[in-house]
Amino acid sequence: MTFAKITQVAHYVPEKVVSNDDLSKIMDTNDEWIYSRTGIKNRHISTGENTSDLAAEVAQELLAKAQLSPESLDFIIVATITPDSLMPSTAARVQAAIGATNAFAYDLTAACSGFVFALSTAEKLITSGNYQKGLVIGAEVFSKVMDWSDRSTAVLFGDGAAGVLLENTGEKPLIVAEKLQTDGSRGESLLSGLTNIETPFASKTYEKQHLSMEGRAIFDFAVRDVPKNIQATLEKAELSANEIDFYLLHQANSRILDKMAKKLGVERTKFLQNMQEYGNTSAASIPILLSESVKNGIFNLDGAKRVALTGFGGGLTWGTLVIDL
Ligand code: ACO
Repeated sequence: MTFAKITQVAHYVPEKVVSNDDLSKIMDTNDEWIYSRTGIKNRHISTGENTSDLAAEVAQELLAKAQLSPESLDFIIVATITPDSLMPSTAARVQAAIGATNAFAYDLTAACSGFVFALSTAEKLITSGNYQKGLVIGAEVFSKVMDWSDRSTAVLFGDGAAGVLLENTGEKPLIVAEKLQTDGSRGESLLSGLTNIETPFASKTYEKQHLSMEGRAIFDFAVRDVPKNIQATLEKAELSANEIDFYLLHQANSRILDKMAKKLGVERTKFLQNMQEYGNTSAASIPILLSESVKNGIFNLDGAKRVALTGFGGGLTWGTLVIDL
């Protein structure tokens, strides 16, 4: 049997930090409103770097840490909803930037669940026995799709990228249990990137092209559907919520994490949190949290800690992987 293992983690964010006070100078908002409702204090914002630039930095660092050549990679998956372009994919741009000439590369679109969906997919590529090494990266330049005149969304998001090197060197299954879900019928509550149809044969224009969100509906979705998903995933592995050492959830909002901890009946301290420094970085949020946690010594990538990774967001999409880190 072949098992996948996360052997390296890395993250990269743009240098520029924009605080809540900075935002209050360009829109009608304030630190108290933002922090009390979301837990966010700062976010990193690109001053020109695009999504593939951030992802390529992560890829370079993963290879450097592992002392691997780019040619040794078999695949690169980038989870993003803010690609540089639809064609070529962000992953193909990363492949070219780092010279991973033997790797196939593609983007995966599952919004804030993107990293979880991509890691699940990549684990299957490795356990199939067909591929030995690959990168799974979540990367977003959300600032370019935000409506900067809409204070109800512009204060929530940030830019960043992070990822993992996955290798076929595991001694046991990486994913202990998983459950990925989608409900396209509720998709309109989080919209971004609609493209007008303007041809000699048709004209269809959309009012909303930037990101738009029904905040309350998304909040309710997060606190109703996501804990059920976590419970169902745990049941598959006959685990209780307290048998998980740490929960690494999508970093959208600290109040969502408070409610989640309560619903699952576990200590709030088990829910790691860093949205105060990054805002909501969509597909990058879970791997940034993972990479920081390894840097801070919470995990050693030795398989000793049992962790739940849970994404939720546009699509609607949501899902949990229970993994040993
Ligand atoms: N600063 C100051 N006031 C604001 C701001 C702002 N940035 N934004 C909105 N307001 C005002 C509104 O205009 C409204 O004023 P009114 O009462 O005079 O009309 C008031 O604040 C309350 O607005 P609500 O939208 O009702 O605020 P709410 O308490 O629901 O909080 C929030 C909004 C934080 C967005 C909340 O709904 C939420 O957390 N939703 C979940 C969003 C989320 O997590 N999304 C990410 C998941 S999906 C993904 O990651 C892509």
